[in-house]
Amino acid sequence: MKRAAKRTVVVYGGTFDPPHEGHMLLLSAAARRLRPAAVWLLPALRSPLKSAPAESFDDRTAMLRAAAAEAGVRAGVSLFEKRRGRTTYTWQAIEYFRSLHPRAELYFLMGSDCLPGFPRWRRTDRILASARLLVGRRAGFPRGAGREFSPVFLDGTFPEESSTSLRAALYCGDAPAGVPAAAMRIIRRRGLYLGRLREGALRRLGPARARHTLACARLACAIAAARGTDPRAAAAAALIHDYAKEMKPEELVRESRRRGLRIPCFGETARRAPQLLHSWVSAALAREELGVDDPAVLRAAARHTLGHPSMGELDRTVFVADMAAGDRSFPGVAGLRRLALRDLDAAAALAARLKVDWLRRSGKWIHPLGLETCLRLDP
Ligand SMILES: [Fe+2]
Ligand SMILES: [Fe+2]
Repeated sequence: MKRAAKRTVVVYGGTFDPPHEGHMLLLSAAARRLRPAAVWLLPALRSPLKSAPAESFDDRTAMLRAAAAEAGVRAGVSLFEKRRGRTTYTWQAIEYFRSLHPRAELYFLMGSDCLPGFPRWRRTDRILASARLLVGRRAGFPRGAGREFSPVFLDGTFPEESSTSLRAALYCGDAPAGVPAAAMRIIRRRGLYLGRLREGALRRLGPARARHTLACARLACAIAAARGTDPRAAAAAALIHDYAKEMKPEELVRESRRRGLRIPCFGETARRAPQLLHSWVSAALAREELGVDDPAVLRAAARHTLGHPSMGELDRTVFVADMAAGDRSFPGVAGLRRLALRDLDAAAALAARLKVDWLRRSGKWIHPLGLETCLRLDP
């Protein structure tokens, strides 16, 4: 790419976690409208406004490069933020590109959804001194809004893709339409967005259990999305929750013993309902074999069957998602599923109650922990 060879330079920054069709449409429209001499894609090392990206800078950069090439956009990918190695504000990046292209007309591309928050960005005076805003309108964006920044609006409206929902779908092994095929190939090849964990977790399971695991992950992600919590942790815990489920009862007892797992009423559990041990063994094996090291994720997996009187948000999410997963078909499951998305606490109480009632009706042993969970959630 020639430096300052021609008139117009477009800079497009973002987390690109993952890059999606919305990004590509905006980029293509900007390229058509301005016919820039150079387009710079600027992946953020981390965003000052969002939580840490799910994937590394290098993986996001590789996906972005591939997606832009596939979309036919000739663009350079700037490693500016990686080289700096710390949080970078837009004004710092813009001044860097201004120094690269001192005589160019510099545009900073964004979706109109960023415009209302723009006045709160740092040093907008310095951004606007060096660059013009180039804005793609999202549906419903009021005409005339943001005029104080003298933006150049692209023609038409642009779809709003939610990176959060795309990531949630990817965690569950789906290939959402919004992710460009070229990026999808990298995601698969490198096992991004929990791909490696998912593959490892499903390896021990037969087809029906694998289907259940993915259904549980989907519901866990939907619950997390409804509550604004982290879908990655929810998906990870759901993916490992039944990892040891297909082990024989005697194996579960042996593995629990061998590891000295702290399991309430272990002796009686081993004798009367050894299959319950799969929760704790799943968590222990996921740590050892799959490298899961987030204690909250491991705890949620260990608590998915009997719950716990002091279940946290993630524990409740997985406890309910397991019981109400899309592959379940007991009477009332559809209602439980709907409730899970509306009121997780009520759904956890109902799930605990349904489990205890079912055990009572079938004359089975009720683990004291399951009973305690039920009494705490649904007194
Ligand atoms: Fe289970
Ligand atoms: Fe399960």
